[in-house]
Amino acid sequence: MKRVLSGIQPTGDLHLGNYFGMMSRMIKYQEENDLFCFIVNYHALTTIQDKKLLAENTLNAAIDFMALGLDPDRSTFWIQSDVPQVCESTWLLSNIVNVGALDRATSYKDKLAKGITANVGLYSYPILMASDILLFGGEIVPVGNDQKQHIEITRDIAIRFNQTYEDVFIVPEPDIEKTNQLVPGIDGQKMSKSYGNTIPIFGDEKSIRKKFMSIVTDSTDIEKPKSIDTALYELYALFLNDNEKKELANRFKTPGMRYGDIKQELYDCFWAQFSPYREKRAYLEKHKDYVIEKLKNGSQKASVIADSFLKKARIAMGLNYGDNNV
Ligand code: ADP
Ligand code: TRP
Repeated sequence: MKRVLSGIQPTGDLHLGNYFGMMSRMIKYQEENDLFCFIVNYHALTTIQDKKLLAENTLNAAIDFMALGLDPDRSTFWIQSDVPQVCESTWLLSNIVNVGALDRATSYKDKLAKGITANVGLYSYPILMASDILLFGGEIVPVGNDQKQHIEITRDIAIRFNQTYEDVFIVPEPDIEKTNQLVPGIDGQKMSKSYGNTIPIFGDEKSIRKKFMSIVTDSTDIEKPKSIDTALYELYALFLNDNEKKELANRFKTPGMRYGDIKQELYDCFWAQFSPYREKRAYLEKHKDYVIEKLKNGSQKASVIADSFLKKARIAMGLNYGDNNV
């Protein structure tokens, strides 16, 4: 049984890209693995400075995950800031990371390119993420492709720590799915909150339907074959098995197909798959105390593991000065 671990930022409404790129895989992993999953509200501090918004988003993200099937009794599920040991280990690890590695981080560079004024938190984001993984002994880390470089930085940190001091940390492997790694948004670019092109999973039914209806399509004549290299085909394919995908591709190639009909069908598929989760979400929303209790239990379980890795790291680095084991 492997320890599978990943986190998600509580930065806004959950969308189909998050679900198919990362969450659905996490939820499947809990069946046969030791799943560790957390909401990274410390990371969100790098971009959210509104306390009410951060607190609401954090609990909402936890409710989303549980509504979609994450079982807090089967996995270890918590809020990052309930295990503050990750902050101490971030400092310990900071001392073996060269600034060059952070300067080269593409997600940091992308944010700078968008005109965001970087704070030190944003700059050292990858070290906090490395702490998240190493302090809990994560072996496999399911993430979207955009996080691959962060996992490489984490691996480098673990290897360097183990070489400089002694073998303390497990070197994790990224788990990046080939098929759904780039779910397109309604405009055809990567679906992302920051591009305003998402299809949310929860939220108002009418406005979600509107999103499906506004998926970008070309102006190919009805009587001509349509391309499957499009956001509409790719989004629909997320809900289909291999045979169904072939059938859909044939329909795209056959003259007479109307984009409007396909969008409606896609919406129906979405609704069939997600409406039970929406009901579960509505229930959890009314039982927040239950959710909070599960999160607190999760943080206690996670703390035990974090304490043990942290103790080993402190001893390895010479911080436990009075300890006879040094
Ligand atoms: P966003 O880009 O909307 O801000 P996040 O950066 O919060 O999304 O991503 C959370 C998780 O969902 C990450 O593991 C990320 O790789 C995955 N993810 C986000 N958008 C997509 C997408 N369009 N396709 C596949 N995976 C995605
Ligand atoms: N950086 C990740 C993202 O934006 C979130 C994250 C924080 C994470 N800590 C992690 C993912 C540890 C995996 C493991 O999606």
